[in-house]
Amino acid sequence: MDEQGKVTLHDRTFELYLTEEELLSYIRAMADQINHDYKESLPLVIPVLNGAFMVAADLLKELTIPCELSFTKLSSYSGTSTTGTVKTLIGLGEDIANRDVIILEDIVDTGITLEKLYAETKKFNPKSIRIASLLLKPEAYHNRIKIDYVGKEIPNKFIVGYGLDYDGLGRNLRNIYVVTKD
Ligand code: IMP
Ligand code: MG
Repeated sequence: MDEQGKVTLHDRTFELYLTEEELLSYIRAMADQINHDYKESLPLVIPVLNGAFMVAADLLKELTIPCELSFTKLSSYSGTSTTGTVKTLIGLGEDIANRDVIILEDIVDTGITLEKLYAETKKFNPKSIRIASLLLKPEAYHNRIKIDYVGKEIPNKFIVGYGLDYDGLGRNLRNIYVVTKD
């Protein structure tokens, strides 16, 4: 696997799309806004596993305000397209009551995952819920839930790396790669 150029995972080839440096600059910009908005509060950041593990680590290093962290897990993906149903949801609990919650996603695509998570989070009576996502595919997103902090908007193409996978592979890549047409 050539980390700088092309990457092959299963039956697909991917080419370099967003470098680690670019990703970190988007994350710093998101962190600046969060540091500004939560000066008076102690937010609970809830990253969505598995995909958000890398952005969680890098975003939290850039937060200068006091904050807490609690992971949750769900998934709606099989291969390169959404299955339309969210399969698992674990890790949300009573600790959310009266808290300022920030749900942290690696990427928002159709928004199906987010819709489910948002509804489930609300049941625990948080004081507020905001959404942060490193990446957003606006062409695929047809949902009214506002994404409060977006690192970068990208076209509706399948990507891997920096936590994102193609059938389990590619999460370990430090850059993001986009699927090639062939
Ligand atoms: P949604 O429910 O369609 O918004 O999909 C959200 C989840 O699907 C994300 O949290 C990712 O884990 C995964 N996902 C969406 N787009 C991609 C992609 O291009 N590559 C890999 N995973 C993706
Ligand atoms: Mg995800």
